[in-house]
Amino acid sequence: MTHTILVTGGAGYIGGTASELLLDEGFNVIILDDLSTGHKESIANQTPFYNSKIGDIEALNKIFSNHKIDAVMHFAGAALVHESMQNPKKYFDINFCQAQNLLNVMNKHNVKNFIFSSTCAIYGIPDKDEIPIKEETIPKPINPYGESKLLFETSLKWEKESNNLNFIALRYFNVAGSSKQHFENHKPETHLIPLAVNAAKSNNTLKIYGNDYQTQDGTAIRDYVHVVDLINAHICALKALIEKKNCSCIYNVGYGVGYSVFEIVNAVQEVLKTQVKYNITDRRSGDPPILIANSEKIKKELNWKPKHNNINEIIESTSRFIT
Ligand SMILES: NC(=O)c1ccc[n+]([C@@H]2O[C@H](COP(=O)([O-])OP(=O)(O)OC[C@H]3O[C@@H](n4cnc5c(N)ncnc54)[C@H](O)[C@@H]3O)[C@@H](O)[C@H]2O)c1
Repeated sequence: MTHTILVTGGAGYIGGTASELLLDEGFNVIILDDLSTGHKESIANQTPFYNSKIGDIEALNKIFSNHKIDAVMHFAGAALVHESMQNPKKYFDINFCQAQNLLNVMNKHNVKNFIFSSTCAIYGIPDKDEIPIKEETIPKPINPYGESKLLFETSLKWEKESNNLNFIALRYFNVAGSSKQHFENHKPETHLIPLAVNAAKSNNTLKIYGNDYQTQDGTAIRDYVHVVDLINAHICALKALIEKKNCSCIYNVGYGVGYSVFEIVNAVQEVLKTQVKYNITDRRSGDPPILIANSEKIKKELNWKPKHNNINEIIESTSRFIT
Protein backbone atom coordinates (compact mmCIF):
# COMPACT_ATOMS: atom_id res chain seq x y z
CA MET A 1 0.00 0.00 0.00
CA THR A 2 1.33 3.45 -0.89
CA HIS A 3 1.40 5.80 2.08
CA THR A 4 0.66 9.50 1.76
CA ILE A 5 2.81 11.99 3.64
CA LEU A 6 1.97 15.64 4.25
CA VAL A 7 5.23 17.58 4.14
CA THR A 8 4.96 21.02 5.74
CA GLY A 9 7.72 23.38 4.63
CA GLY A 10 8.18 21.27 1.50
CA ALA A 11 9.27 24.30 -0.56
CA GLY A 12 12.24 24.83 1.75
CA TYR A 13 15.71 23.29 1.83
CA ILE A 14 15.15 20.29 4.10
CA GLY A 15 11.43 19.74 3.38
CA GLY A 16 12.16 19.95 -0.37
CA THR A 17 14.87 17.31 -0.05
CA ALA A 18 12.48 15.16 2.00
CA SER A 19 9.80 15.44 -0.71
CA GLU A 20 12.32 14.39 -3.37
CA LEU A 21 13.57 11.36 -1.43
CA LEU A 22 10.08 10.30 -0.29
CA LEU A 23 8.91 10.33 -3.92
CA ASP A 24 12.01 8.29 -4.86
CA GLU A 25 11.02 5.77 -2.16
CA GLY A 26 7.51 5.43 -3.62
CA PHE A 27 5.54 7.51 -1.08
CA ASN A 28 2.82 9.97 -2.15
CA VAL A 29 3.69 13.51 -1.10
CA ILE A 30 1.52 16.56 -0.46
CA ILE A 31 3.17 19.87 0.31
CA LEU A 32 1.92 22.69 2.55
CA ASP A 33 4.06 25.82 2.55
CA ASP A 34 3.37 29.56 2.74
CA LEU A 35 6.49 30.33 0.64
CA SER A 36 7.70 32.80 3.28
CA THR A 37 11.24 31.45 2.88
CA GLY A 38 10.60 28.59 0.43
CA HIS A 39 10.74 28.45 -3.35
CA LYS A 40 7.77 27.37 -5.47
CA GLU A 41 10.03 26.26 -8.34
CA SER A 42 11.59 23.62 -6.11
CA ILE A 43 8.27 21.73 -5.85
CA ALA A 44 7.94 18.84 -8.32
CA ASN A 45 5.16 19.41 -10.88
CA GLN A 46 3.14 16.34 -9.98
CA THR A 47 3.09 17.12 -6.24
CA PRO A 48 -0.16 18.55 -4.83
CA PHE A 49 0.76 21.92 -3.28
CA TYR A 50 -1.19 24.07 -0.82
CA ASN A 51 0.07 27.63 -0.40
CA SER A 52 -0.97 28.37 3.15
CA LYS A 53 0.20 28.80 6.71
CA ILE A 54 0.45 25.85 9.07
CA GLY A 55 -1.78 27.85 11.43
CA ASP A 56 -4.62 28.27 8.91
CA ILE A 57 -7.31 25.95 10.29
CA GLU A 58 -9.62 26.26 7.27
CA ALA A 59 -6.85 25.38 4.83
CA LEU A 60 -5.72 22.49 7.05
CA ASN A 61 -9.23 21.05 7.26
CA LYS A 62 -9.44 21.18 3.47
CA ILE A 63 -6.13 19.32 3.06
CA PHE A 64 -7.02 16.60 5.57
CA SER A 65 -10.48 16.20 3.99
CA ASN A 66 -9.14 16.05 0.42
CA HIS A 67 -6.43 13.44 1.13
CA LYS A 68 -6.11 10.35 3.25
CA ILE A 69 -2.90 11.27 5.05
CA ASP A 70 -0.90 8.58 6.85
CA ALA A 71 1.76 10.79 8.43
CA VAL A 72 2.90 14.39 8.69
CA MET A 73 6.53 15.45 8.39
CA HIS A 74 6.66 18.90 9.90
CA PHE A 75 9.55 21.00 8.57
CA ALA A 76 7.79 24.40 8.29
CA GLY A 77 9.17 26.86 10.76
CA ALA A 78 11.18 29.98 11.41
CA ALA A 79 14.79 28.93 11.82
CA LEU A 80 17.19 31.86 12.22
CA VAL A 81 18.80 31.97 15.66
CA HIS A 82 19.89 35.58 15.41
CA GLU A 83 16.51 36.79 14.11
CA SER A 84 14.83 34.96 16.99
CA MET A 85 16.83 37.09 19.46
CA GLN A 86 15.44 40.24 17.80
CA ASN A 87 11.89 39.02 17.18
CA PRO A 88 11.03 36.25 19.66
CA LYS A 89 7.25 36.62 19.12
CA LYS A 90 7.59 35.50 15.51
CA TYR A 91 9.29 32.29 16.69
CA PHE A 92 6.70 31.44 19.35
CA ASP A 93 3.91 32.24 16.88
CA ILE A 94 5.14 30.04 14.00
CA ASN A 95 7.02 27.29 15.82
CA PHE A 96 4.55 26.85 18.66
CA CYS A 97 1.13 28.56 18.26
CA GLN A 98 0.60 27.86 14.54
CA ALA A 99 1.95 24.34 14.98
CA GLN A 100 -0.70 23.72 17.68
CA ASN A 101 -3.39 24.31 15.05
CA LEU A 102 -1.75 21.68 12.86
CA LEU A 103 -1.85 19.18 15.75
CA ASN A 104 -5.50 20.01 16.50
CA VAL A 105 -6.61 19.50 12.92
CA MET A 106 -4.60 16.26 12.65
CA ASN A 107 -6.32 15.01 15.77
CA LYS A 108 -9.75 15.97 14.42
CA HIS A 109 -9.04 13.93 11.27
CA ASN A 110 -7.57 11.05 13.27
CA VAL A 111 -4.07 11.34 11.73
CA LYS A 112 -1.67 10.07 14.37
CA ASN A 113 1.83 9.79 12.89
CA PHE A 114 4.04 12.87 13.20
CA ILE A 115 7.73 13.60 12.62
CA PHE A 116 9.07 16.90 13.86
CA SER A 117 12.16 18.94 12.86
CA SER A 118 13.66 19.73 16.19
CA THR A 119 17.12 21.13 16.72
CA CYS A 120 20.31 20.95 18.76
CA ALA A 121 19.56 24.60 19.66
CA ILE A 122 17.35 23.26 22.45
CA TYR A 123 20.49 22.12 24.34
CA GLY A 124 21.91 25.62 24.79
CA ILE A 125 25.47 25.49 26.13
CA PRO A 126 26.07 21.96 27.43
CA ASP A 127 28.85 21.33 29.96
CA LYS A 128 32.15 20.05 28.50
CA ASP A 129 31.54 16.58 29.96
CA GLU A 130 28.12 16.44 28.21
CA ILE A 131 29.72 16.59 24.72
CA PRO A 132 28.99 14.64 22.48
CA ILE A 133 25.44 15.47 23.55
CA LYS A 134 23.03 12.65 24.35
CA GLU A 135 19.25 12.94 24.19
CA GLU A 136 19.10 12.73 28.01
CA THR A 137 21.05 15.98 28.41
CA ILE A 138 18.78 18.49 30.09
CA PRO A 139 17.77 21.09 27.48
CA LYS A 140 18.57 24.70 28.40
CA PRO A 141 17.99 26.80 25.27
CA ILE A 142 19.76 30.15 25.11
CA ASN A 143 17.71 31.65 22.29
CA PRO A 144 13.98 31.95 21.46
CA TYR A 145 14.41 29.68 18.43
CA GLY A 146 15.58 26.77 20.63
CA GLU A 147 13.01 27.60 23.29
CA SER A 148 10.11 27.61 20.79
CA LYS A 149 11.18 24.22 19.42
CA LEU A 150 11.52 22.77 22.93
CA LEU A 151 8.08 24.06 23.87
CA PHE A 152 6.60 22.31 20.85
CA GLU A 153 8.44 19.06 21.72
CA THR A 154 6.85 19.29 25.18
CA SER A 155 3.40 19.72 23.70
CA LEU A 156 4.00 16.63 21.51
CA LYS A 157 4.74 14.60 24.63
CA TRP A 158 1.37 15.61 26.11
CA GLU A 159 -0.46 15.01 22.80
CA LYS A 160 0.89 11.48 22.91
CA GLU A 161 -0.36 11.09 26.47
CA SER A 162 -3.81 12.62 25.87
CA ASN A 163 -4.59 11.92 22.22
CA ASN A 164 -2.38 8.94 21.30
CA LEU A 165 -0.21 10.91 18.91
CA ASN A 166 2.70 8.77 17.66
CA PHE A 167 5.56 11.16 17.20
CA ILE A 168 9.29 11.24 16.67
CA ALA A 169 11.19 14.49 17.15
CA LEU A 170 14.55 14.52 15.39
CA ARG A 171 17.01 16.96 16.90
CA TYR A 172 19.16 17.94 13.93
CA PHE A 173 22.65 19.30 14.35
CA ASN A 174 23.94 21.49 11.45
CA VAL A 175 22.40 20.38 8.20
CA ALA A 176 24.44 20.91 5.03
CA GLY A 177 25.02 19.57 1.51
CA SER A 178 22.68 18.98 -1.41
CA SER A 179 20.66 16.16 -2.92
CA LYS A 180 20.31 15.62 -6.69
CA GLN A 181 17.69 18.39 -6.94
CA HIS A 182 17.64 20.40 -3.72
CA PHE A 183 20.19 22.70 -2.15
CA GLU A 184 20.48 25.29 0.58
CA ASN A 185 18.92 28.51 -0.67
CA HIS A 186 18.05 30.55 2.41
CA LYS A 187 17.57 34.28 2.05
CA PRO A 188 19.43 35.55 3.95
CA GLU A 189 21.89 32.65 4.09
CA THR A 190 23.38 32.36 7.57
CA HIS A 191 24.92 28.89 7.35
CA LEU A 192 28.68 28.55 7.21
CA ILE A 193 29.23 26.01 4.42
CA PRO A 194 27.21 27.73 1.65
CA LEU A 195 28.65 31.10 2.75
CA ALA A 196 32.24 29.79 2.67
CA VAL A 197 31.69 28.15 -0.73
CA ASN A 198 30.15 31.36 -2.02
CA ALA A 199 33.10 33.38 -0.70
CA ALA A 200 35.52 30.99 -2.43
CA LYS A 201 33.71 31.22 -5.76
CA SER A 202 32.81 34.90 -5.84
CA ASN A 203 35.76 36.44 -4.04
CA ASN A 204 33.41 37.81 -1.32
CA THR A 205 34.70 38.09 2.22
CA LEU A 206 33.37 35.55 4.69
CA LYS A 207 32.47 36.91 8.13
CA ILE A 208 33.63 34.75 11.01
CA TYR A 209 31.63 35.50 14.13
CA GLY A 210 34.06 35.33 17.02
CA ASN A 211 37.51 33.78 17.49
CA ASP A 212 37.49 33.98 21.28
CA TYR A 213 35.48 30.84 22.10
CA GLN A 214 36.96 28.23 24.43
CA THR A 215 37.86 25.92 21.53
CA GLN A 216 41.22 24.82 20.08
CA ASP A 217 41.36 27.65 17.52
CA GLY A 218 38.88 30.04 19.15
CA THR A 219 36.07 29.56 16.60
CA ALA A 220 32.75 27.77 17.17
CA ILE A 221 32.51 24.02 16.56
CA ARG A 222 29.56 22.29 14.89
CA ASP A 223 28.55 18.79 13.79
CA TYR A 224 27.60 18.97 10.07
CA VAL A 225 25.16 16.32 8.84
CA HIS A 226 24.52 15.71 5.13
CA VAL A 227 20.91 16.52 4.22
CA VAL A 228 20.50 13.17 2.42
CA ASP A 229 21.52 11.24 5.56
CA LEU A 230 19.19 13.47 7.59
CA ILE A 231 16.23 12.64 5.35
CA ASN A 232 17.12 8.97 5.49
CA ALA A 233 16.82 9.32 9.28
CA HIS A 234 13.29 10.68 8.68
CA ILE A 235 12.45 7.73 6.46
CA CYS A 236 13.69 5.32 9.18
CA ALA A 237 11.48 7.22 11.66
CA LEU A 238 8.50 7.16 9.30
CA LYS A 239 8.77 3.40 8.77
CA ALA A 240 9.03 2.86 12.55
CA LEU A 241 5.83 4.87 13.10
CA ILE A 242 3.91 3.21 10.27
CA GLU A 243 5.01 -0.27 11.36
CA LYS A 244 4.20 0.66 15.00
CA LYS A 245 7.67 -0.35 16.18
CA ASN A 246 8.48 0.13 19.82
CA CYS A 247 10.79 3.15 19.66
CA SER A 248 11.72 6.33 21.48
CA CYS A 249 10.24 9.73 20.73
CA ILE A 250 13.41 11.82 20.60
CA TYR A 251 16.58 11.23 18.61
CA ASN A 252 19.67 13.32 17.86
CA VAL A 253 20.86 13.37 14.25
CA GLY A 254 24.51 14.20 13.69
CA TYR A 255 27.78 12.37 13.07
CA GLY A 256 29.50 12.86 16.43
CA VAL A 257 32.34 14.82 14.80
CA GLY A 258 32.83 18.56 15.23
CA TYR A 259 34.52 21.02 12.88
CA SER A 260 35.58 24.53 13.86
CA VAL A 261 34.87 27.44 11.53
CA PHE A 262 38.55 27.56 10.54
CA GLU A 263 38.54 23.82 9.80
CA ILE A 264 35.56 24.32 7.48
CA VAL A 265 37.30 27.25 5.76
CA ASN A 266 40.39 25.06 5.25
CA ALA A 267 38.30 22.18 3.90
CA VAL A 268 36.51 24.53 1.45
CA GLN A 269 39.89 25.85 0.26
CA GLU A 270 41.15 22.31 -0.21
CA VAL A 271 38.05 21.05 -2.07
CA LEU A 272 37.66 24.13 -4.30
CA LYS A 273 41.42 24.71 -4.63
CA THR A 274 41.04 28.43 -4.00
CA GLN A 275 41.44 30.90 -1.17
CA VAL A 276 38.58 32.00 1.08
CA LYS A 277 38.95 35.62 2.18
CA TYR A 278 37.59 36.20 5.68
CA ASN A 279 37.43 38.72 8.48
CA ILE A 280 36.71 38.20 12.15
CA THR A 281 33.82 40.10 13.70
CA ASP A 282 32.03 39.94 17.06
CA ARG A 283 30.23 36.79 18.17
CA ARG A 284 26.56 36.54 17.15
CA SER A 285 24.18 36.58 20.10
CA GLY A 286 22.67 33.18 20.81
CA ASP A 287 25.53 31.10 19.32
CA PRO A 288 26.87 28.35 21.64
CA PRO A 289 30.61 27.45 21.36
CA ILE A 290 30.39 23.68 20.72
CA LEU A 291 27.54 21.45 19.52
CA ILE A 292 28.35 17.83 18.70
CA ALA A 293 25.81 14.99 18.66
CA ASN A 294 25.85 11.57 20.16
CA SER A 295 23.54 9.75 17.69
CA GLU A 296 24.05 6.18 18.86
CA LYS A 297 20.39 5.88 19.84
CA ILE A 298 18.95 6.43 16.35
CA LYS A 299 21.57 4.07 14.85
CA LYS A 300 20.69 1.36 17.34
CA GLU A 301 16.91 1.72 17.58
CA LEU A 302 15.96 2.86 14.06
CA ASN A 303 18.88 1.32 12.19
CA TRP A 304 19.98 4.68 10.76
CA LYS A 305 23.11 4.19 8.66
CA PRO A 306 24.78 7.43 7.58
CA LYS A 307 26.45 7.13 4.16
CA HIS A 308 27.66 10.67 3.44
CA ASN A 309 29.61 11.53 6.59
CA ASN A 310 32.51 13.09 4.79
CA ILE A 311 32.98 16.85 5.05
CA ASN A 312 34.57 17.10 1.60
CA GLU A 313 31.56 15.36 0.03
CA ILE A 314 29.23 17.80 1.84
CA ILE A 315 31.23 20.76 0.51
CA GLU A 316 31.38 19.34 -3.03
CA SER A 317 27.64 18.76 -3.12
CA THR A 318 27.03 22.33 -1.86
CA SER A 319 29.38 23.70 -4.48
CA ARG A 320 27.49 22.04 -7.38
CA PHE A 321 24.66 24.58 -6.93
CA ILE A 322 26.69 27.72 -6.29
CA THR A 323 28.03 29.48 -9.37
N1 LIG B 1 18.93 23.96 8.39
C1 LIG B 1 19.39 23.46 9.55
O1 LIG B 1 20.60 23.31 9.76
C2 LIG B 1 18.41 23.05 10.63
C3 LIG B 1 18.91 22.55 11.84
C4 LIG B 1 18.00 22.15 12.82
C5 LIG B 1 16.64 22.23 12.58
N2 LIG B 1 16.18 22.75 11.41
C6 LIG B 1 14.74 22.83 11.21
O2 LIG B 1 14.41 22.26 9.96
C7 LIG B 1 13.25 22.89 9.40
C8 LIG B 1 13.52 23.25 7.95
O3 LIG B 1 14.64 24.12 7.88
P1 LIG B 1 15.19 24.64 6.48
O4 LIG B 1 16.64 24.89 6.65
O5 LIG B 1 14.73 23.76 5.37
O6 LIG B 1 14.46 26.05 6.38
P2 LIG B 1 13.72 26.72 5.12
O7 LIG B 1 13.50 28.15 5.51
O8 LIG B 1 14.46 26.45 3.86
O9 LIG B 1 12.35 25.94 5.08
C9 LIG B 1 11.26 26.24 5.90
C10 LIG B 1 10.02 26.20 5.02
O10 LIG B 1 8.86 26.43 5.85
C11 LIG B 1 8.01 27.38 5.21
N3 LIG B 1 7.27 28.08 6.27
C12 LIG B 1 7.78 28.90 7.23
N4 LIG B 1 6.79 29.32 8.05
C13 LIG B 1 5.65 28.74 7.60
C14 LIG B 1 4.28 28.77 8.03
N5 LIG B 1 3.90 29.51 9.09
N6 LIG B 1 3.37 28.06 7.34
C15 LIG B 1 3.74 27.33 6.25
N7 LIG B 1 5.00 27.25 5.80
C16 LIG B 1 5.95 27.95 6.47
C17 LIG B 1 8.94 28.29 4.42
O11 LIG B 1 8.31 28.96 3.35
C18 LIG B 1 10.01 27.29 3.95
O12 LIG B 1 9.68 26.73 2.71
C19 LIG B 1 12.96 24.09 10.30
O13 LIG B 1 11.87 23.78 11.13
C20 LIG B 1 14.23 24.26 11.11
O14 LIG B 1 13.95 24.77 12.40
C21 LIG B 1 17.03 23.15 10.43
